[in-house]
Amino acid sequence: MKCFKNSLSYIGLISILLAGCGGTSSLVGGEGGEGGENGGLHYQGRNCMDCHSFSSGGTVFKTLHASNNDLANSAAGYNIRLALKDSVGNTTRYVYYVQGRGDGNFNTSWINGGAMQFIAEVVDSNGKVVNKSASLHNQSRFACNSCHTASGTGGAPGRIVSYDYYASLNNTGNTGGNTTGNTTGNTGGNTTAVSFASSVYPVLKQKCQACHNSTSGRIYKVLSTAAATYTNLTSNSLVNTTTPANSLLLQKGGGKISHTGGNALGTSYNTVLNWIQQGAKNN
Ligand code: HEC
Ligand code: HEC
Ligand code: HEC
Repeated sequence: MKCFKNSLSYIGLISILLAGCGGTSSLVGGEGGEGGENGGLHYQGRNCMDCHSFSSGGTVFKTLHASNNDLANSAAGYNIRLALKDSVGNTTRYVYYVQGRGDGNFNTSWINGGAMQFIAEVVDSNGKVVNKSASLHNQSRFACNSCHTASGTGGAPGRIVSYDYYASLNNTGNTGGNTTGNTTGNTGGNTTAVSFASSVYPVLKQKCQACHNSTSGRIYKVLSTAAATYTNLTSNSLVNTTTPANSLLLQKGGGKISHTGGNALGTSYNTVLNWIQQGAKNN
């Protein structure tokens, strides 16, 4: 709902307008001026665009299912940057948001002239990326909290969180899935070296290339040579040799997290897992 735009400096007018916004009186009372310019309570979790005309905004929370106005679970000090991607998945530039008003809230007035695609990254106060979207978002996704509601709509898992959302899934929900996969596949797998060119690349070609190829606009692409494909995987952080099962290649390809291609790896999951466990070499 659009309540008002371009009138935020008229404080007297605002309180009149807010009364007609459908917000409860507790929201009106908690606008956060008291908490300083950036801190405190300010409609955390609500769709900022209901009231503001900046181009994009939202909230980082400490927990996935935090309610609107949950100040205790708002992640103060965190910010958002967009990693803009070209058609081959390389980052062309970063767009940083500003923090506040309100702990965990972020907004920007930046507008891109035309179509674009990006990975939305959550950065901590040192600028370190702590969480990011797995799939490409685009300019139709600027009202962040419209999908990142307490329970999540439009496929979002819930709030934008200040921890590595996908790694956290692996530690809790996937216990069953990974146990079975790893036990069966690892028996002989780790004793023989798994070759990228002769074992992994053929699997990726057969099971992923129909959707992930040089003309599709995604990050992960199976290209015409093993070497080029290897570069795509490593330069886009799709493999994680520290915690192999957390690799996005396996998480997505194995259907452990929401993925349009589902569990495309199927019985080849362990071939790829073993290769990553052995250091994801270009062998
Ligand atoms: C229900 C309406 C409403 C919602 C929702 C809302 N705001 Fe505000 N916001 C206001 C009002 C009113 C002011 C100005 C009054 C004040 O200073 O508190 C304001 C002020 C601000 C300011 C200070 C600069 C300015 O534009 O005046 C920022 C930054 C801001 N809001 C960010 C956000 C973000 C980010 C969100 C989403 C998480 C958000 N707001 C959600 C009503 C809202
Ligand atoms: C149209 C719905 C939609 C909008 C709007 C949206 N997202 Fe998402 N977001 C998703 C979906 C679906 C996922 C899960 C798949 C993925 O990770 O890409 C997700 C996942 C994420 C994640 C990782 C998981 C999490 O919850 O922390 C981050 C971070 C994220 N989005 C940031 C943002 C930011 C920042 C914006 C605003 C610029 C935004 N999103 C707007 C749909 C949306
Ligand atoms: C039927 C088509 C289809 C197949 C087959 C498929 N994918 Fe995907 N994949 C998608 C789509 C569409 C997305 C983007 C939206 C999403 O995340 O579901 C995606 C996203 C991904 C991503 C996130 C990065 C990106 O490029 O967006 C990875 C990693 C991934 N898939 C891995 C795999 C692997 C590994 C295989 C093969 C074992 C595979 N996929 C097979 C359709 C497919």
